[in-house]
Amino acid sequence: MSQFLTYLPPFEGILPKWLVFVSVVSALNSLQAYCSTQYTSQLYSNGQVPASPLSGRVFGTWTFLSAVIRMTAAYNIDNPVAYNLAMWTYGIALTHFVGELIVGNASLKGRFLSPLIVASASLAWMITQREAYLA
Ligand SMILES: *[C@@H]1O[C@H](CO)[C@@H](O)[C@H](O)[C@H]1NC(C)=O
Repeated sequence: MSQFLTYLPPFEGILPKWLVFVSVVSALNSLQAYCSTQYTSQLYSNGQVPASPLSGRVFGTWTFLSAVIRMTAAYNIDNPVAYNLAMWTYGIALTHFVGELIVGNASLKGRFLSPLIVASASLAWMITQREAYLA
């Protein structure tokens, strides 16, 4: 365990560790989306609307890109470019997910809730902590 802890970002506060955690979860979600259209269908429509294999791979690809940016920001949390890019990943994800509530088949229940909560909470967190980490 302590061996593992030495690999965590060498910064104070929980935010960098949170970014590592979300990044790892995002990467796993990305893998799931590549492996099964069921995953994407469950996420976006509670299984009501089938997802195409292509939409699963596209979701997996942009999710993996987000994971890479979040991991980079976690280890460079005092770098404004990395910090802003990570905020953008949450801003874009939140816009996308809210958009799916409006024009897509998503609804406020089931698996769709977690990305919505993670994106909005992380964005709010990063906005409020921005000055502290970049000072
Ligand atoms: C999914 O969304 C489309 C477009 O709004 C709509 O026509 C369709 O009925 C929806 N499907 C389900 C199962 O809700």
